Amino acid sequence: MSLLKVSNLTKKFGKFTALDGVNLEVNSGEIVGFIGPNGAGKSTTIRVILGILKATSGEVKIFDKDAWNDAVDIHKRVAYVPGDVNLWPNLTGGEVIDLFVKLNGTDHGSKREELIQKFDLDPTKKCRTYSKGNRQKVALVAAFSSDADLYILDEPTSGLDPLMEKVFQECVMEVKRLGKSVLLSSHILSEVEKLCDRVSIIRQGKIIESGTLAELRHLTRTQILVETKDPITGLADLEGVHEVEDTELGVSFQVDSDKMDLVIKHISPFGIVKLESAPPTLEDLFMRHYEGVGGKR
Ligand SMILES: Nc1ncnc2c1ncn2[C@@H]1O[C@H](COP(=O)(O)OP(=O)(O)OP(=O)(O)O)[C@@H](O)[C@H]1O
Ligand SMILES: [Mg+2]
Repeated sequence: MSLLKVSNLTKKFGKFTALDGVNLEVNSGEIVGFIGPNGAGKSTTIRVILGILKATSGEVKIFDKDAWNDAVDIHKRVAYVPGDVNLWPNLTGGEVIDLFVKLNGTDHGSKREELIQKFDLDPTKKCRTYSKGNRQKVALVAAFSSDADLYILDEPTSGLDPLMEKVFQECVMEVKRLGKSVLLSSHILSEVEKLCDRVSIIRQGKIIESGTLAELRHLTRTQILVETKDPITGLADLEGVHEVEDTELGVSFQVDSDKMDLVIKHISPFGIVKLESAPPTLEDLFMRHYEGVGGKR
């Protein structure tokens, strides 16, 4: 069942088109990664989803309600962690958490203390004195203390150290166990790889890929290192083979994952002594997407 459905969403700021026909869906019980480089449109999409910004055209439905017109209703069942956490400077972290949870309606009650401990947060300090990471922790504790159906997290770990990132991952896994849904925007790919059922990749306001990690792997390359009895010939000419290099340990190359079978058939007659392969990571996939027009880094 679809909890969140973004259909053909376009958002213009003056003449600038920030979002250009974005489609995005989160089903019940699903964790969806929303990946893209700086300025791609992740936060803008999320702000439209939350009814903070009005769409130029297109439709956003949450729980089958309209994101703009029914925002108040929707928000009772949504927990949100913004990318840039700004808190009220004169309230303490604990006060802000209580306020957020109250605004959300229902709360997990006991969750609050447990989360404050897990995230190692001092809730008695004034928000003005918190570091970026600590502000993010306040927002995360508030979000995960709320009994929401949909958690919308906009780059929630950009200020957290690795230990806290792990705590965050446990929190996401916990809400998933409870059957809740999560939209998680990030450019930390390892995080998304571990947590998400599906990912959508956005670039310059357009979704360029979406699917399960398995589905997206057809776009990736596997790194191979092979040692053969006889020297391999004709490898570089094969379709789907890249970066062939003779090393002391054997021939090293990359192969498009969907051309693997042909390549193995080609090298097999040379007498394979040893073959090592490294699975494609989302990182590779991501990097190749950035190599497009105007996106060279
Ligand atoms: N209020 C605004 N007025 C004008 N342009 C805006 C506004 N908000 C966002 N933009 C532009 O829209 C584009 C998308 O921005 P957005 O913040 O959604 O990117 P993002 O994917 O969240 O990036 P980041 O990873 O840096 O957070 C950017 O080019 C940004 O400059
Ligand atoms: Mg952003």
